[in-house]
Amino acid sequence: MARRPLIAGNWKMHGGRADLDKLRMIREAARRQICETTDVVVCPPATLLAHAFEALEPTVAVGGQDCHFAASGPYTGSISAPMLADSGARYVILGHSERRSGCGEDDALVARKVAAAWSAGLVAIVCVGETEAEHAAGRTLAVLREELTGSLPSGATGDNTVIAYEPIWAIGAGRTPTPDEIEKIHHAMREHLSHRIGEPAARAVRLLYGGSVKPENAGEILAIRNVDGALVGGASLNAEDFIAICRSVPEPAAAPPRGGLE
Ligand code: PGA
Repeated sequence: MARRPLIAGNWKMHGGRADLDKLRMIREAARRQICETTDVVVCPPATLLAHAFEALEPTVAVGGQDCHFAASGPYTGSISAPMLADSGARYVILGHSERRSGCGEDDALVARKVAAAWSAGLVAIVCVGETEAEHAAGRTLAVLREELTGSLPSGATGDNTVIAYEPIWAIGAGRTPTPDEIEKIHHAMREHLSHRIGEPAARAVRLLYGGSVKPENAGEILAIRNVDGALVGGASLNAEDFIAICRSVPEPAAAPPRGGLE
């Protein structure tokens, strides 16, 4: 089954109403060209969700950057998955390394959040990735297996789940793994999912690469087998760069074969 590529922008803790014009630019570019072949989502800070919905939908989707595992309750400062859905969001990023390390989120908590997102009808973009030390020690695949096992509750499908491989050492660092490394890692993730949820479901789950994706390297990264899109941080804050990345998705006919497990 062909997977529709997905380019996701993660604005992190950046942006205000003065930046809404960027979203309108992205929507116009997507409407003219990109959305025929590619899904696009922008995940702004929660304060901008409603404005982003007005500026982007229905051409470009809106997503949250986190949610609580409960639907409502005494959790001052938190936002639930149903609240994100109510604001118009269709996606939510969960388990980003900045939340795992900065907010103490472990796999079990991420799994509860993923289940909450599914219950609210959101697509969970579940992030996994190794530290620099784990990379240097050759532990990347072991770390990813552990994170995928712990962070994904049973019931993942191509409709409710996207996995983003984000090596922590590449985020905001201006460096990336080699195309060969990315290909091996994405292949291994596809195989892992296949064992876990069965091959047809695993084939349908989109696997994004994230970590220093820029207009200059997007074409090469997005052409790698089993890379079904990108999670873009810094470069998504610049509308022209983000649009250029969206346009770097290979044409379906020109793309290398995707999806098959060897
Ligand atoms: P970056 O961030 O593109 O700025 O490296 C990616 C991310 O953290 O999702």
